[in-house]
Amino acid sequence: MNRNPHVAVVGATGAVGVEMIKTLEKRNFPVGKLTLLASARSVGKTLTFRGQEIAITELTKDSFAGVDIALFSAGGGISKEYAPIAVQAGCVVVDNSSAFRMDDSVPLVIPEINGEDVKKHKGIIANPNCTTAITLMALYPLHKEFGVKRIFASTYQAVSGTGAQAIEELKRQVEEIVSDKPVTKQVYPHQIAFNVLPHVDSFLPEGYTKEEMKMENEGRKIMHHATFRASVTCVRVPVYRAHSVAVSAEFDKPVTAEAAREVLKKAPGLDVVDDPEKKEYPLPLYVAEKYNCQVGRIRNDCALDNGLCFWVVGDQLLKGAALNAVQIAEELLK
Ligand code: A2P
Repeated sequence: MNRNPHVAVVGATGAVGVEMIKTLEKRNFPVGKLTLLASARSVGKTLTFRGQEIAITELTKDSFAGVDIALFSAGGGISKEYAPIAVQAGCVVVDNSSAFRMDDSVPLVIPEINGEDVKKHKGIIANPNCTTAITLMALYPLHKEFGVKRIFASTYQAVSGTGAQAIEELKRQVEEIVSDKPVTKQVYPHQIAFNVLPHVDSFLPEGYTKEEMKMENEGRKIMHHATFRASVTCVRVPVYRAHSVAVSAEFDKPVTAEAAREVLKKAPGLDVVDDPEKKEYPLPLYVAEKYNCQVGRIRNDCALDNGLCFWVVGDQLLKGAALNAVQIAEELLK
């Protein structure tokens, strides 16, 4: 791999794409050249990288000549169509969509957990689902110590996880409501302002949504834990940025809140914020734009044997997407 790689961001104008560009800059990723790709709609726009205006160009089959690393975040359809073309052109793809995550030939990586898996790539490396990534940042260190059997979890997912249009929808609906205008809907099937929607991604025949099953499926692959089980309810909440997850986890070995706290304090990419007496616990408002996830409300689970409850919050545009993708690119340069 070129030491100063030519990097392309596919979906550069999107909620995640913009964060990818910022993260490359903030982490001093040794970008030799940056190509910004989006749809024909964005041609004529520019974005700033290291103080320079870079023009957006239209994504086409010819976009990847000379590109070393392509960070994709333009949806699963675009990834399915263009990632193989990019690989053919000699590029390594870090894909943020769900298109290749469960493909056996594609590593699914959280660098703090299974960074070694990057080495097995055959051109494409997948970035995990945002909620799964944030949950595993706290769950995996506990798993290593106590052996997780299964979890029950509910998520509180921010609208920016749906994309830039959903941020606009929440803002617009709040303005409509406070000025007594009729509420308009374009992105979600129901009003998201002053509401919560127990519906993230599409429904499966069993009644769970696809998003809910990612925790078990992707969790097994990332943790190399084939029998891990997860029952999850995913909920969209009127928060701009950062997902929260309430987790009850059952372990093989006995676990106490104190022992868990000691393990979590040493975990990479994670801060323990857990002093309920002082009203200190992780809050999405304050975790937004932070690289590290935060965990708190750590307590023994009163309904499970060897069980533990915790509340983990992470910026899903960063650890759940852009940051994790750039960390994978950093692994590629090691
Ligand atoms: P564009 O802004 O030109 O539509 P988000 O997840 O925030 O909705 O962003 C989606 C990203 O994917 C945007 O950068 C968007 O570009 C890009 N995108 C959507 N459709 C296409 C397409 N057909 N070709 C290239 N990029 C696309």
